[in-house]
Amino acid sequence: MKHLIHAVTIASAIIAGPALAEGWTLVPDGSHLAYGSIKKDTVGEVNSFTSLSGTVSPDGQAMIEIDLSSIETNIDIRNERMIEYVFRKAGTATLTAEIDMSELSALEVGQTTTVDSEAVLSLAGADVEFDAELFVVRLSENSVLVTTNDMVFISTEDAGVNAGVDKLMELAELPGITRTVPVTARLMFELNGEQASAEPATTTEVAAVTVPGDARAGKKVFRKCSACHKLKEGRNGVGPTLFGILGAQAGQVEGFKYSAALNDSGITWDAQTLSGFLADPRGSVPGNKMQFPGLKKDEDIVNLLAYLQEEAQG
Ligand code: HEC
Repeated sequence: MKHLIHAVTIASAIIAGPALAEGWTLVPDGSHLAYGSIKKDTVGEVNSFTSLSGTVSPDGQAMIEIDLSSIETNIDIRNERMIEYVFRKAGTATLTAEIDMSELSALEVGQTTTVDSEAVLSLAGADVEFDAELFVVRLSENSVLVTTNDMVFISTEDAGVNAGVDKLMELAELPGITRTVPVTARLMFELNGEQASAEPATTTEVAAVTVPGDARAGKKVFRKCSACHKLKEGRNGVGPTLFGILGAQAGQVEGFKYSAALNDSGITWDAQTLSGFLADPRGSVPGNKMQFPGLKKDEDIVNLLAYLQEEAQG
């Protein structure tokens, strides 16, 4: 462990990479969101939404609003039924996702890349989480085009629209409509302001220590935690939410029942204490009830901390 703490101290002098100062705005004319459905097992149809709007903040939080009343099924009565029974007159659905902006800013005009994104679709009161692989083209200094690299499948049950689909079947006297829906998207974004200016590097500090490491790699490491921990505020699972964990006092998340060991530990979670805990959860806080053997590689810990820090800024 000594070796890691040393690395953290030295690397506190290291500075984060260049960032785009401006956010991005969705260009409705260049964007298209569609989904498919199959009825009677044989007839495939494409529906789309003609009105989209959205933004991506400088730190990569994408928020896209889908005007549900702009549904286009190519048959008027069907549009009305979709709005009434499936979307239950919800007005808009929102799609939120996180995009790694450092990767996007590094793209030269004409270059392409694929990025993994975790997204949440909120529709008429239901939240559907899904992973999407996105294909990104930097069209110009000020614009990027983002498309789904593969189809994304969304289950009508998860989206809470099963009852609405039942109703459509009844009205149209159909024996069946598929309950999982392939979705594709093409989203064009333009940079706010005129220019993609490479801002001077900035340092960000959490609990007075700058965390070095690769946040992208850290995100993968976090998969080892995500069965028990979420990063959203108030979302406790088997373990407490890790929302805002850097800089927090141990054992303080509301609504979570901690072991006495952790509760009384008096620890403040900073890069050093977290590194020690994650390397050896049982040894460092004896008697705590986190069923996790620890991360064996220093590198994984450093990267995970970078990811937690990045999330904290989101
Ligand atoms: C099998 C479930 C499980 C896994 C996997 C797991 N944890 Fe935990 N974690 C817990 C539980 C349960 C607690 C509460 C322990 C207690 O009260 O003694 C906890 C506590 C914590 C705390 C202290 C939180 C606080 O509010 O003080 C941190 C930090 C933490 N875990 C980080 C992680 C990280 C990072 C990973 C992945 C590398 C991870 N955990 C993996 C279940 C888990």
